[in-house]
Amino acid sequence: MKTNRSEDVQQDKTMIQKRLIQFLFLVVLILLIFLDVDLRHLAFTWIPKIISNATGASQVSEIENISTPEPPTPVPYVSPGLYLVEYPYKYRFLINEPKKCEEQKPFLVLMVPVAPHNRAHRHIIRSTWGGESSVQGKVVKLFFLLGLQAGEGAERLQGQLLQESKEHQDLIQSDFLDCYKNLTIKTMVMLEWLDSHCSGASYAMKIDSDMFLNVPNLVGMLVNAPKTNYMTGLVARGSAVLRDRKSKWYVPVEIYSHSQYPRYALGLGYVLSLDLPKKLVEASRHVKALYIEDVYLGLCMEYLGIPPTDPPSWGYFNVFPVPYSRCGYSRLIATTTPENNVNPLWVWKDFKRPGLHCVNGQIHT
Ligand SMILES: *[C@@H]1O[C@H](CO)[C@@H](O)[C@H](O)[C@H]1NC(C)=O
Ligand SMILES: *[C@@H]1O[C@H](CO)[C@@H](O)[C@H](O)[C@H]1NC(C)=O
Ligand SMILES: *[C@@H]1O[C@H](CO)[C@@H](O)[C@H](O)[C@H]1NC(C)=O
Repeated sequence: MKTNRSEDVQQDKTMIQKRLIQFLFLVVLILLIFLDVDLRHLAFTWIPKIISNATGASQVSEIENISTPEPPTPVPYVSPGLYLVEYPYKYRFLINEPKKCEEQKPFLVLMVPVAPHNRAHRHIIRSTWGGESSVQGKVVKLFFLLGLQAGEGAERLQGQLLQESKEHQDLIQSDFLDCYKNLTIKTMVMLEWLDSHCSGASYAMKIDSDMFLNVPNLVGMLVNAPKTNYMTGLVARGSAVLRDRKSKWYVPVEIYSHSQYPRYALGLGYVLSLDLPKKLVEASRHVKALYIEDVYLGLCMEYLGIPPTDPPSWGYFNVFPVPYSRCGYSRLIATTTPENNVNPLWVWKDFKRPGLHCVNGQIHT
């Protein structure tokens, strides 16, 4: 009976001990939670220490560094707004011709911005002025600049572009979204490309895809042009900043406060010496990237203190479409083409047929 009793007491004691331990454990847990102690942190930092002390290993700091990494600093996306673009930014080339220019050392590179889906214009340009690969003994190269097509059918189009690139080896595509508002990005990516892949060439011309270009006249002008700090085209002076909200080129005062832009060469077609791309890319780090691409280059040129210069002849660059005539087109360098123009392939064929372009110095159709 006595032994039984003492056994009972013993049982009661262990029971109380168990309860006490459970209670203490609970209190500690509540305290930890209450004091907002990071349990995971505690487990990761202390357990390895105890283990390493026991095993004599010295991997403490390594485990510590893995378990408590620097909190990632998320860079929140800030839209540049309606009038600026996402530049400078590290865009990637999806289709590239990294060696072409360095290998062939052209005198002149023709850079044509074009929408990814606009294969028709690329075909016309390759079959007309873009096909002129040697003019007066000077090598001329043609490249098209594309962004990324968004939306439906984008994947299929990308496949077609890769095929087209294999065939013609003249496409350069970067991974920004291709749209009108992003033309400044296209131009800046073009300048980056010229700087890193084509700096051995002498001149580049950026020309829109719906233009007519007289390559011999262009080469003729460039043979006698300055070799550095040279930009020409149809140079606008004292252009008013458009403050009418309905204008296609509206810019609010907060974005650009002067009432006039500095000199700039109209975007339809301008020429530059190939020392300029590097300088312009550098300048772009200091000048906010406005969505109007030609004005933006003008602002960068102003920053560099290099004003664009007029071409030697007034009729060389034309923003108002010049109707086709063999004589008229033989005297210009670039012109926009009339909207309901005759077939550009026919125009080219007629323009290139042998024989005098002008009869008795008269414009002749
Ligand atoms: C590990 O051991 C060191 C001495 O070797 C001692 O100072 C330290 O307090 C110990 N850490 C733990 C968590 O036991
Ligand atoms: C862990 O971090 C400490 C201090 O930040 C550093 O000195 C140590 O080299 C790091 N250890 C490892 C393995 O990266
Ligand atoms: C311009 O391109 C950037 C980069 O791809 C994109 O984030 C932005 O939405 C584009 N802008 C417009 C107006 O589509």
